[in-house]
Amino acid sequence: MVRIAEITGPQFPAFFNCFEILMQEGYAGFPAKLREFFIMKEYSQSNFFQWYEKQLRKIYIAFNETEQLIGFLVGDNTYGGIAFITWIGVLPAYRKHGVGKQLLQFYEEYVRTRNAHLIELFTYEGVKEFYIKNGFKEIGRREEGFFGQQNIIMNKKIGSWDISNIPPIS
Ligand SMILES: CC(C)(COP(=O)(O)OP(=O)(O)OC[C@H]1O[C@@H](n2cnc3c(N)ncnc32)[C@H](O)[C@@H]1OP(=O)(O)O)[C@@H](O)C(=O)NCCC(=O)NCCS
Repeated sequence: MVRIAEITGPQFPAFFNCFEILMQEGYAGFPAKLREFFIMKEYSQSNFFQWYEKQLRKIYIAFNETEQLIGFLVGDNTYGGIAFITWIGVLPAYRKHGVGKQLLQFYEEYVRTRNAHLIELFTYEGVKEFYIKNGFKEIGRREEGFFGQQNIIMNKKIGSWDISNIPPIS
């Protein structure tokens, strides 16, 4: 039985440990130099923690029966009705058991409360099918995108844009 929850402060070391394991595994085929840059600088534990404290990003984590952290999803809070997923990962031993799907479902539930009409992410060839199975469609691609990586741009439509979703000015 897998439990999904929003992260809390004390869970950051376990979350980052899981993030590091997936990066070291070769996340998305990123070259070693890029993975090191992400772990050591751009997506360091302290940066994740700051985004969490300032409520700039949402982090969901998955636990197994023994409360070991086995997966995560990092997404934003939506902007202009579009929610963006930055990271999703499940430890190798727990894949293909529906954990990734549940993480996506939790995030989707959250962004619906923010009146999102689309969820967007960038992926690569090896994982595209996972997103298709979860309702995403390819809308375009960059062969040489962020950091020179292939970006397959995928969207999931979960509603319609409504002008009344623009937040009040005061
Ligand atoms: C991508 C990832 C998060 C999927 O997590 P998961 O827990 O294995 O996914 P699920 O078990 O929920 O899969 C849901 C469906 O997608 C399918 N699926 C999962 N990964 C797949 C893949 N790489 N290729 C094709 N189909 C896949 C599953 O078989 C399942 O299909 P079903 O509904 O017909 O049974 C996981 O493989 C992972 O962490 N990969 C390494 C990190 C990574 O590449 N992250 C994404 C970068 S964009």
